[in-house]
Amino acid sequence: MTSQDSNDHVFIFDTTLRDGEQSPGASMTLSEKIQVAEVLDDMGVDIIEAGFPIASDGDFEAVREVAKAARQAVVCGLARAGNKDIDRAAEALKYAKRPRIHTFISTSPVHMKHKLQMEPDDVREAVSASVARARKYTDDVEWSPEDATRTEHDFLCACIETAIKAGATTINVPDTVGYTMPEEFFELITMIRGKVPNIDKAVISTHCHNDLGLAVANSLAGVRAGARQIECTINGLGERAGNAALEEIVMAIRTRNDLLPYESTIDASMITRASKLVSAVTAFPVQYNKAIVGKNAFAHESGIHQDGMLKNVETYEIMTPESVGLKESSLVMGKHSGRHAFREKLKSMGYELGDNAFQDAFRSFKALADRKKNVFDEDIEALVDSEVATVDDRIKMVALTVIAGTGGPQKATITLDVDGRHETRECTGDGPVDATFNAIKAIVPHEASLPLYQVSAVTEGTDAQAEVSVRLEENGKTVTGRAADTDTMAASARAYVSALNKLMVKREKTVPESMVTP
Ligand code: KIV
Ligand code: ZN
Repeated sequence: MTSQDSNDHVFIFDTTLRDGEQSPGASMTLSEKIQVAEVLDDMGVDIIEAGFPIASDGDFEAVREVAKAARQAVVCGLARAGNKDIDRAAEALKYAKRPRIHTFISTSPVHMKHKLQMEPDDVREAVSASVARARKYTDDVEWSPEDATRTEHDFLCACIETAIKAGATTINVPDTVGYTMPEEFFELITMIRGKVPNIDKAVISTHCHNDLGLAVANSLAGVRAGARQIECTINGLGERAGNAALEEIVMAIRTRNDLLPYESTIDASMITRASKLVSAVTAFPVQYNKAIVGKNAFAHESGIHQDGMLKNVETYEIMTPESVGLKESSLVMGKHSGRHAFREKLKSMGYELGDNAFQDAFRSFKALADRKKNVFDEDIEALVDSEVATVDDRIKMVALTVIAGTGGPQKATITLDVDGRHETRECTGDGPVDATFNAIKAIVPHEASLPLYQVSAVTEGTDAQAEVSVRLEENGKTVTGRAADTDTMAASARAYVSALNKLMVKREKTVPESMVTP
């Protein structure tokens, strides 16, 4: 597809795994990235930007594994305008069925002078050389003028023309610093379409950051002006205030199709699942009143609203919860449910587990159903997500006893399986969580700090599962562990152990060079 006018399809380019992961503290492990990519692929995302291969071995591996795993989506790797970057991206994309290289360089005066320390003519030469090099590896090349919205218009048009001449098939227009306004962005895209002579040979894309809370509005203004690709992330994750939120873009186009007569291939009923997964693997909670995916997005409490809803849901709802995959929690699963029903349930929730993972998940489900009266979909989701995350762990929790209460001191006795050996320690602490973490630390000594400890209830009631997220930081490396259990202390210990396991994996990896990411 090369023309902006030929159809109304808007390509959805998801960059949760690249720009989203650049968000401080949002790092994901390889298996988490593959899980997210599989959900994005299933939900119909057109292009998945899986990482920045030269940034680290971890990013390289993620792009390579997502490229192997993707069934339909184009898989994209980011590269600066240099041979090493582009060659590394191409290498990571070697196994992709549909590879795209996305290369970029700054074009605004402030970036060229202070960041690149390059003259405009040299930047333009780099545009041509980098796109041409990427084209040696794939026909699908995207080029971005970083900080486009603060770039001088004639120079921006000249660079875009150069990139298209060199073979770029998508021209992305990033509002890198979230500075533009909808009207202004509409005019910028209109100006590009009017002034760049070969623009009909490329798809125009938007990439809007949310520093002023306008990322979605700006992206939609861009599409109204003729852009046909939107770069966005699940939950609006991304640098600083984030990127345009995929779920808001998709539902705005669907709900206001009278004003936005475009279509995307996204299966909106998978939005809730994708949002929960990204929130869980990054331990970034979704704001309660976040559009589309917030806990309160479809909740009605005031008497007047509830009365209206009971008479006709259209009184206070412009979209149905079902349309974004939100269903009333149902009570269908319990301790009498068998393997078959459990497998079917998992399937309906979008999980396809291998035999071993399934057996483990089924055992945990039975144990949970014995302890908990009502097992909700969210309980099963939390349980499967923590099972999937623990398959290759070196440290496993075996047993935990905690003495809590006002009498103090609070005490925890924990047994861990470390590489197949059982070790037990008893420690006191400033509260039961502190005592538990001290006991774990006594068995697995480490210097990591604990920048985040977060508990939330997965479902309602006093027998709800507690979902605990623990973030550990060591020598600039951040990992997040999470676990769910009806016992908050057990969930806390498991989440801490999960983070420790990830830290061990990270320690084994080396990072070749320090990177300045865009
Ligand atoms: O925000 C930005 O400019 C980017 C580019 C790499 C597209 O993320
Ligand atoms: Zn960005």
